[in-house]
Amino acid sequence: MTAIDGLRSTGLSIPISRIRELANRHMGNNALIPLWFGEPDVPTPEFIIEPAHRAMLDGKTTYNEGLGKPWLRSAIANYMTGLYATDISINRIAVTVSGTNAVNLAFQLLMTPGDKLVTTTPSFPTLLTVPQLQQAEIDTIALKPSSNGWSVDVNALIEAASNAKILQINSPNNPTGWTLSLEDMRAILNAARKSGCWIISDEVYSRIVYDGKAAPSFAELAEPEDRVVIVNSFSKSWAMTGWRLGWLTLPPSLLPECEKLMEFSMSCAPEFVQAGGLKALENGEDFIAEQMARYRRGRDVSLERLSAMSGVTVVPPHAAFYAFFQIEGVRDDVALAEQIAKDAQVGIAPGSAFDPTLENWFRICFAKDEALLNEAFDRLEAFLKSR
Ligand SMILES: Cc1ncc(COP(=O)(O)O)c(C=O)c1O
Repeated sequence: MTAIDGLRSTGLSIPISRIRELANRHMGNNALIPLWFGEPDVPTPEFIIEPAHRAMLDGKTTYNEGLGKPWLRSAIANYMTGLYATDISINRIAVTVSGTNAVNLAFQLLMTPGDKLVTTTPSFPTLLTVPQLQQAEIDTIALKPSSNGWSVDVNALIEAASNAKILQINSPNNPTGWTLSLEDMRAILNAARKSGCWIISDEVYSRIVYDGKAAPSFAELAEPEDRVVIVNSFSKSWAMTGWRLGWLTLPPSLLPECEKLMEFSMSCAPEFVQAGGLKALENGEDFIAEQMARYRRGRDVSLERLSAMSGVTVVPPHAAFYAFFQIEGVRDDVALAEQIAKDAQVGIAPGSAFDPTLENWFRICFAKDEALLNEAFDRLEAFLKSR
């Protein structure tokens, strides 16, 4: 009997993400321009680092409250109340160690093996794999591309969710930038209220939008005891991917249940990390505005350069920082992404990582320096011409 024979079968059956698998083979190659991961290329700003550093020096290095420091939970509640012009109270907020942890907690709280989950594809891999680990029966509704952006058949989504335990929405969406309107959210919430379906809403890209200050949120519509759980993160808005800090907004009655799960998984988010998060919320609006100006340039450059390449079709994203594009005639996206990494030295993510039925889609993250993006597109264009 080997060690692996004793592993839980659901663990063995989940694949490593195709992005990670590809990137792992090219780690350490400094000549390669990596556009495959979804993160800004700037370090966390000093106004966030400094209070975290100070908190460490002040001995804030011990265990603390499982649900997060009350001052951070209160700041998150104020931030959401201000952003969405609706009253969000501290008794709905749990501080998590990342958006990924928040997604896991949401499924651990709500899902029993065999429960039906409805979600959309293409999807950020975690949002398919985490429910798979909870042994969900997953039903997917495909988003549809057009020259205007991506959309969903809201009626089909509502219909599919009518007998589901959970409907998962990721708006703004990774990898497509698809964003649900408030009107469609209202229709979905009303239908879920009738059927008793839970909504897990991943809103980690809520501030990365090209029109307005924030994307529509279920927080604007849900009553405290509605069956709605919202996932959020400090990673994307404030360039804090390595800090591992996020939060859940959930019905007050679920908070004690969530606290138990948190105690027995991560215990608590580090206090010094939370000290950084506090300043991000309090003083981070100028930083978000500066980053959005860069992302807007990154988006414009990406759309212009990709659409000028022969055989390439790119769908404009309304939010998030990804260009999701199609290359004509490709039958094996993973093999082509591997060849592009090897020959053109550009790291791009294969579309099948987000939906195994896709064979000729690719994603790049354009939250990067404009000159670097142009260099990557020069290499990609030369590669595609030489094929
Ligand atoms: C849609 C979505 N949800 C959640 C996450 C996880 O973010 P983090 O764990 O860094 O907070 C990501 C990261 O790429 C994402 O794209």
